[in-house]
Amino acid sequence: MIEKHVNLKPYNTFGIEVYADALARFTNVDELTEILKASTYDLLLVLGGGSNLLLTQDFHGLVLKNEISGFSVLEENDEFVIVEAGSGETWHEFVMTCIEKGYAGVENLSLIPGSVGASPMQNIGAYGTEIKHVFHHLKAYHLATGEIHTFDNEACHFGYRESVFKNIYKGQYIILSVAFKLSKSPKINTTYGAIEEELKQQNITNPTIRDVSNSVIAIRRSKLPDPKVIGNAGSFFKNPVVDEGIVEKIKLEYPDVPNYPAEEGKRKLAAGWLIEKAGWKGKTFDTFGVHKLQALVLVNYGGSTGKQVFDLSSQIIADIELKFGVTLEREVNIL
Ligand code: EPU
Repeated sequence: MIEKHVNLKPYNTFGIEVYADALARFTNVDELTEILKASTYDLLLVLGGGSNLLLTQDFHGLVLKNEISGFSVLEENDEFVIVEAGSGETWHEFVMTCIEKGYAGVENLSLIPGSVGASPMQNIGAYGTEIKHVFHHLKAYHLATGEIHTFDNEACHFGYRESVFKNIYKGQYIILSVAFKLSKSPKINTTYGAIEEELKQQNITNPTIRDVSNSVIAIRRSKLPDPKVIGNAGSFFKNPVVDEGIVEKIKLEYPDVPNYPAEEGKRKLAAGWLIEKAGWKGKTFDTFGVHKLQALVLVNYGGSTGKQVFDLSSQIIADIELKFGVTLEREVNIL
């Protein structure tokens, strides 16, 4: 069924109120095909969890709400298991199911908002892991032909918060299911300093995947606002990769500037650090602003427009360019 004139506030974690001309839900590929056949709209927007999206205006098209569920084992031996999940499943619930079953590999990605189907779009990552490390393949509906295409890891061209679905194939596919290769003999990854500290504090020396997940959840809760309470879309910007020379220049004033390895001749900087040092952390303008505990996250305290948040992001970009000679890029999709 196609609903008309729908308020999208419940469907985006920023909690921005804009209207879509129409919205329809699908739980499988047949329903999707039916809806597309009946639709008279030129513009389509596929929504999973709506957690990486800033809506700056009404949407004059059809929103397709992905509600494809499912969890199944495709292949299994003593060492690994290939599990497939419906793209409309909530990412965190999928992670919790894997942990319950003792399947290791996604525990560091606990509590990331959004859906399973959105996870490969931008190669979600946190605390030393990215999904490209465990991704096996996905199935996607090709809008132009109605065919279902399979993409393996290589075909997705994963990069830092990047995949083919965010650039060359943008808007061309609807992801239906995603399969992951997970390990049955846990390979714990606590290389990310904050996890080690958290485990130490809890006196855990031989952590299980559940311990790692609990630590990640505790760290995220201590730093990142819960979208159910304060509207946000996680990191609003990407961490910028810059020439080593820029890092050297920043070091003259800030010898401790956090920076990480990247491709040759380049380093990755922490956008949150740059934004904090430029004085934006915690800045609040009426109903929106920069989060007080993590400067990478822009927030809507309620009642803001997407344009207000977008304009704030533009001001931050201009200021960081001026102060550090670094160009920040938005991570969130703007519509
Ligand atoms: N920092 C500051 N001030 C801030 C925020 C960070 O000085 O307000 C400094 C920290 O002290 C640290 C460095 O920046 O030295 C890095 O901070 P953190 O470890 O918190 O990670 P991040 O680079 O800010 C990235 C991801 C997050 C992910 C964390 C943990 C991006 C754009 N963001 O943030 O992902 O949870 O690492 O792995 O890569 C997301 O994508 O939505 C997201 C939340």
